[in-house]
Amino acid sequence: MNIFQKIGVRICNYALAVAEYLIKWREPRLLKSYSELVDALTLREIDNVLIVSDQNIYKFGLTQYIENALNKAGIKYTLYLDVSPNPTFKNVYDGRDIYINNNCKGLIAIGGGSVMDCCKTIGVLVTNNGKIEDYKGLFKVHHNMPTMVAFPTTSGTGSETTVAAVIRNEVTGEKFPIESIKVVPKFAYLDDRLLKDLPPFVFATTGMDALTHAIEAFLNHDTTHKTRKYALDACKLIKDNLEAGYINKDNLEAKSHMLTASFLAGKAFTRSMVGNVHAIAHAIGGKYNLPHGYLNAIILPHILELYKNNAKKKMSIIAVYIGVGSEKNTYIENAQLLIDWIKELNKKFALPEKIKEIQKEDIPHLARTSYKEAVPLYPCPVLFNKADFEKIYHSIKEN
Ligand SMILES: [Fe+2]
Repeated sequence: MNIFQKIGVRICNYALAVAEYLIKWREPRLLKSYSELVDALTLREIDNVLIVSDQNIYKFGLTQYIENALNKAGIKYTLYLDVSPNPTFKNVYDGRDIYINNNCKGLIAIGGGSVMDCCKTIGVLVTNNGKIEDYKGLFKVHHNMPTMVAFPTTSGTGSETTVAAVIRNEVTGEKFPIESIKVVPKFAYLDDRLLKDLPPFVFATTGMDALTHAIEAFLNHDTTHKTRKYALDACKLIKDNLEAGYINKDNLEAKSHMLTASFLAGKAFTRSMVGNVHAIAHAIGGKYNLPHGYLNAIILPHILELYKNNAKKKMSIIAVYIGVGSEKNTYIENAQLLIDWIKELNKKFALPEKIKEIQKEDIPHLARTSYKEAVPLYPCPVLFNKADFEKIYHSIKEN
């Protein structure tokens, strides 16, 4: 990117940072028990809810905890269990129709980012009407969605606390975010029992998604004291617990810490944003329908290699804070240690170094999509133009 383009992008980044400073940020209230869930719904006269989840979560019996609490309290509910791993327009429209036809008054999401994002978008359509694409991008949602309670069942997306919902247009393959303060759920409940049967691969890759949120938020230019602290604490919890929870799936303490890490990373990036790693993962995920955390895990070390000269001080701070670096080292040495740790982690999770699904002929389109998402929205430490993105796609593509 040439100097004039960079100045233009940085001015946009700065203008957005000022706008964000003026926004009244919201976060969900954390519930601590199922009786608090019932009280929260009853207080709002919500006696009929739509539960949004997916077939696997239902088969593992994870919806049962919530269903039992609602049954006991006499609160009616309807289950919508068809959310896809990359939630589609059809998922959202089906969920909206079920919500309206059953006279629901509130939403409960039980699942990972896909379920929560689908649930948020159902909520947007219920109170705002219109089509999904009307709300694409920043701050297009005008009315609050119905009361929503989020129960995360993975260790990574942080969607229970973020302003974003990512939806995939299954016809065009485009995956895009809806970003608005109005889509932050009213309540969240971090129940580690919901992670009990999470397959190790999903635990690992969603955890790597949380790590990507924390690192991208920390390295971005638009940070606050709070978001930097959230991001660093999330990285430390991930360093101390992700591998432990992967090796031993019954280690509920590690899983509980990962839920906290995911929540903190969500709070960091909802204010300080994600970056180029996500811009690439979204484009590839939309095109080839691949899991988001899996893609972030592979892409993250490649991008950090490109950042390390410009962002070495901040990368060093992360490395020292989580214990993979040392204050005795130079910034660049610590930055490299951070990258090496991430690569080692990926190896332990049996993740590849490159992405075999990327097709050479798709690269110009993927690069354009990533560029459109990242520029000028994300205040990344290094800015890429379309040609830079093309080069990156060639370097992460398996030959
Ligand atoms: Fe993510």
